[in-house]
Amino acid sequence: MVFIVQIVMGKKEIGRRDFLRELGIFAGGAAALASAPWLASCSPDKADSAGKEKARIALIGTGSRGQYHIHNLLQIANAEIVALCDIYPPHLEEASSLCPSARRYADYRRLLDDKEIDGVIIATPLGTHAKITLDALQSGKHVFCEKAMALTLEECKAVYDAYTRCDNVLYYCMQRMYDEKYIKGMQLIRDGLIGDVVGMRCCWFRNADWRRPVPSPEYERLINWRLYRESSGGLMTELASHQLEVCNWAAGRMMPSSVTGMGDIVYWKDGREVYDSVNVIYRYSDGRKISYESLISNKYNGMEDQILGHLGTMELAKGIYYLENDNSHSGIEQLLAQMKDKVFASVPVAGPSWRPEIQGRYVPHPIIDGPIHVNGGQNTVGVDKDGSDVILSAFCLSCITGERAENVVEEAYCATVLCLLANEAMDTGKIVTFPDRYKIPYMRF
Ligand SMILES: NC(=O)c1ccc[n+]([C@@H]2O[C@H](COP(=O)([O-])OP(=O)(O)OC[C@H]3O[C@@H](n4cnc5c(N)ncnc54)[C@H](O)[C@@H]3O)[C@@H](O)[C@H]2O)c1
Repeated sequence: MVFIVQIVMGKKEIGRRDFLRELGIFAGGAAALASAPWLASCSPDKADSAGKEKARIALIGTGSRGQYHIHNLLQIANAEIVALCDIYPPHLEEASSLCPSARRYADYRRLLDDKEIDGVIIATPLGTHAKITLDALQSGKHVFCEKAMALTLEECKAVYDAYTRCDNVLYYCMQRMYDEKYIKGMQLIRDGLIGDVVGMRCCWFRNADWRRPVPSPEYERLINWRLYRESSGGLMTELASHQLEVCNWAAGRMMPSSVTGMGDIVYWKDGREVYDSVNVIYRYSDGRKISYESLISNKYNGMEDQILGHLGTMELAKGIYYLENDNSHSGIEQLLAQMKDKVFASVPVAGPSWRPEIQGRYVPHPIIDGPIHVNGGQNTVGVDKDGSDVILSAFCLSCITGERAENVVEEAYCATVLCLLANEAMDTGKIVTFPDRYKIPYMRF
């Protein structure tokens, strides 16, 4: 079904309710809801019951991502930005210019005392996520936090436990869970289109150093927090967390039981502490594996989330699938190509054993009709249709209805723990087995 959101920036409000309605229709089939149950909390009837009500939203952390969310919030009918907080005055100023009527705070604890706030969006460095989330839940606020959940396993468990003990709404911005091509792709996987899932392969290649300019040296660790271990889990928490959530989603809560990997600083030797190159393998108890690779000094391979089935392959980031028997490259064409490329010292045409092994030309099939939006990761002003605006809208609705989004916290917990275990494996050079004390009932092994 065609699923296009009409967004007219700056002229009129996004047709968010229509959008939710579309999403609801799209998600209304039992199959789609079965593969993405979190969509139930933002179905059209929920949007209708919210009517013209507005969730009073505050932002803690008004840097790049915080301002991105502000641009999206300004288009959400059920949202009103009432307060902003940042410890870095220039970012608070910038955010304030986008929503001048919002109250300003330099200390998030004072903001949490503000009774005129329903929900907070936490877009601060990873090292602060757990503390601010716990304080915000404690103060009775609904919370939307950025991925990943927390910097340490202990913190993840503390947040998860706090969530299970309270009634507040808690979201993590793992926007692929609200991205139509991922939702539909997962539905097709569940329907058996690519057969048994036999493995997963994800990668994220960029050619950029992650470094930001600082006005003076005392701001280095605040502004370049991604580069330091006190505040960041590096490539695993910043990039892989999204992709491991996709793997968990495709595996239907089945979790890898062990992980090993290697991490290094290969190119950006600029004083950073986090790896700029990681290769990680997760292994499930039945032998299936996730292969994860990220490098930020070569972008040739781009970003992809590949789910490999015995009948086909999903490339969810591109929104395309391929079927194993849909290979238009005939064997003889491949043989000719391989002869031309001098793949063989001699040409083994006489024997029955020759099979084409180079990648064939598979026919790409789109997962969804209509335009496919691919997040370039560069948009800092909102609405790049990667699901970020939808999940934010769902959160605002939940602030009004009080309804939690099913499994969002569990998915974030599972993905974050996998990231942190990979970091441990790379740091120690060992195979790390999933520790029992961080298992939650949601997981299957
Ligand atoms: N979901 C996604 O795709 C996505 C994309 C980008 C960033 N993020 C996440 O968003 C978060 C922020 O990333 P960013 O790129 O905007 O970083 P940033 O450095 O641009 O912004 C972080 C802001 O938090 C402020 N801050 C730090 N400690 C604070 C505190 N105790 N109280 C109040 N403010 C505080 C900083 O001064 C800064 O303005 C990170 O967790 C990051 O992983 C998620």
